[in-house]
Amino acid sequence: MYSPAKPSPAKSLLSALRKYLLIPRLVRLSRSAPKDRPLAWDRYWAGIRATGVGGEVLWDAGTDDEFLGYKDVLLRYLDPELPVVDVGCGHGSFTRALAGIFPEAVGVDVSEHAVRRAAAESGETGNVRFEVRDMTAPGAEKGFDGGANVFIRGVLHVLEPADQAALVENLRLLAGKRGTVFLAETNFQGNPVDYVTHLGATMQGIPAPLERAIRGLPMPGHFGPGERQQVLPAEAWELLEDGEVAIETNPATGVDGRSRVPGYYAVLRPRG
Ligand SMILES: C[S@@+](CC[C@H](N)C(=O)[O-])C[C@H]1O[C@@H](n2cnc3c(N)ncnc32)[C@H](O)[C@@H]1O
Repeated sequence: MYSPAKPSPAKSLLSALRKYLLIPRLVRLSRSAPKDRPLAWDRYWAGIRATGVGGEVLWDAGTDDEFLGYKDVLLRYLDPELPVVDVGCGHGSFTRALAGIFPEAVGVDVSEHAVRRAAAESGETGNVRFEVRDMTAPGAEKGFDGGANVFIRGVLHVLEPADQAALVENLRLLAGKRGTVFLAETNFQGNPVDYVTHLGATMQGIPAPLERAIRGLPMPGHFGPGERQQVLPAEAWELLEDGEVAIETNPATGVDGRSRVPGYYAVLRPRG
């Protein structure tokens, strides 16, 4: 039977060593990230000059490919007559895509600079708007009394557990009786060194969008089925569908497959 050749122990040791030699550089870079998370996010967005293909945002592939992969699921479960709220919308690329399938798309983000950029990039698109909202704050769901659909990508895995719980409570209130929540999050299994190595960091250099994120933002965690069960428990949320997905990032490394991060998606409705 064919079994793929395993790297020799010497090779494996060398590659592990190369990875771990990155640690001092990563520690130095990440020291400058503000401990206050909303501040970190706003400073990050204030420094962004270019988005889309070849831009500076790590989680922005500059294409619709990932969204198109979600579209059938969104159409299957989310009420097409309700507005959709893109929670933690960043520069609004997904909000604009959502506006193509819902009557209104509202992007909300804790960062004022993100919201300003999202609005500027949306030009004259009529059914899109953006608001600054800290979605972990009490009352952040206000204004969607008839219920709304929720789209959330790449936000839960950057929050601490208490903030995840507070945000999820707001998602429940936002959705109300008719709304449905679609979430997509990175679910990379490995330590931070493995994560940045996957995204192209080597001793020779760190791709610029990745370096910018390490410098300015808290190190992300991961969010998969286990985290979903903890934060959106079955007693309170009906799980309609879930599975694996590839989260696209900025293809800064130029190495095939490196810009995709293993991820998790789920579609849920609040019970009761
Ligand atoms: C990794 S980015 C993802 C952006 C966007 N969803 C996308 O996929 O392009 C995470 C976003 O969540 C926002 N964010 C972080 N904490 C938040 C909070 N408490 N309330 C609202 N937005 C938040 C950040 O400002 C940032 O724009």
